Amino acid sequence: MFLGLDIGTGGTRAVLVDLDGRLKASASAEHANFRSPYPGWAEQDPEDWWRAAQQAIREVLATGAKVEAVGLTGQMHGAVMLDVHGNVLRPSLIWCDQRTDAECDWLHEQIGREKLIELTANPALPNFTLTKLLWVKKNEPEIFANIAHILCPKDYVRFKLTGKYAIDVHEASGTLLLDVANRRWSSEVAKVAGIPEAWLPELFESPEICAHISDEAAKLTGLIAGTPVAAGAGDQGAGAVGMGILEPGSVSATIGTSGVVFAATAAPTRDPQGRLHTFCHAVPGRWHVMGVTQSAGLSLRWLRDVIAPGVDYDTLTQGAAKIPAGSDDLLWTPYLLGERTPHLDSTARAAFVGLTAQHTRDHLVRAVLEGVAYSLQDTFTLFAELGIPVKGVRLGGGGARGPLWRQIQASVYNHAVEILTAEEGGAFGAALLAGVGAKGWPDLDAACAAAIHVAQRIEPVSADATQYARGYNAFRKVYPALKNLYA
Ligand code: XUL
Repeated sequence: MFLGLDIGTGGTRAVLVDLDGRLKASASAEHANFRSPYPGWAEQDPEDWWRAAQQAIREVLATGAKVEAVGLTGQMHGAVMLDVHGNVLRPSLIWCDQRTDAECDWLHEQIGREKLIELTANPALPNFTLTKLLWVKKNEPEIFANIAHILCPKDYVRFKLTGKYAIDVHEASGTLLLDVANRRWSSEVAKVAGIPEAWLPELFESPEICAHISDEAAKLTGLIAGTPVAAGAGDQGAGAVGMGILEPGSVSATIGTSGVVFAATAAPTRDPQGRLHTFCHAVPGRWHVMGVTQSAGLSLRWLRDVIAPGVDYDTLTQGAAKIPAGSDDLLWTPYLLGERTPHLDSTARAAFVGLTAQHTRDHLVRAVLEGVAYSLQDTFTLFAELGIPVKGVRLGGGGARGPLWRQIQASVYNHAVEILTAEEGGAFGAALLAGVGAKGWPDLDAACAAAIHVAQRIEPVSADATQYARGYNAFRKVYPALKNLYA
């Protein structure tokens, strides 16, 4: 068995996967709620992730399985700051913390926005780890002075499991300290930012075995001391592995709380305007690009909680299915949490546009499903602009579970989409990475061939696709028209 561990935002999940790529057991443990002392701030305690990880691991091991290797994944970008003894210095500023606009501006002034994109393949965004370290440097210099090691969330759990300071190239891409094209730390960026390179963990490719379970962690978790631990990947990289998105041209569209369109690429394809993230893939020697819609599933949850509290999603979408494609000209722009792709604007705000007295609750629901798909279509538009090939599209996350949202996505993207027999998220991909590291499979292609199967292929409905092409055209005009109101 291979154990995949996903240190998410809401909780930690452990899964066991066998050599046939079958999920044999899974267990989850919730995290204590994150702190948001001011609007836009988001912090969590690394020790709490470690507590949840121990609990989830112990629970899957209760099945009596023998674990050959462990793979890690988790929420990306969070900054974990440790002193020379490996003690946590302050709560982690996590991926969705938005307090670092000033640090992004500072980095762009110091390095130049274009130069930064040349060095790291990405512009400075508040999500990225380096901007969080710079905030601590400016606002909590006494803490900054004691830093000896910096890690991302899952890598802190690795440190507690093995005693090793390590990171994979996929995760490291989201720190803004990696020379993504050359898969090594960027000395130039570290120097300008005042981050000593000695603080940076050792870099590995995702399937590589980088450490082993320590005696102490063995006692706490039930794992056997000496069990190999693969480097793993951030949740998006491991999730892509778990959906078989390995080859250039293969693309996934995943709707969870946020929405991500992810494409594997043969080379590091930069967007000169920085609207897409360009990261090393969890597949050695490959890269990927992705666009992120901040509030995808969150849009539907928000709408449900506000207009139909307690009503289940199936009931809501059954109503929406009776409304014609295009929602009788009602549009939703899903910027409840600002937006990353393509606007990179934390001040953007969501809107319903085009309401009339004829619109019903069902129209609002359908407009939200369509507006989220239009927002993901923005990433496909950038792919086309940058010449990034799209051969096959697979759907994942909660947005792939109901028939209506699947069909809307196929027709909005105007591309056939595939649904997998089982889609288990990042923890499953992390287990496949561990299996390759432990030589259970020769490579990720073999692992995915064993583990991943297509259940269904959905074609666009051509009349709907025509309607959606018009709707998307209108959607694209909403943000530029409203942008000046948000500020
Ligand atoms: C990726 C991203 C999220 C987080 C939390 O860029 O911000 O996927 O990793 O899930």
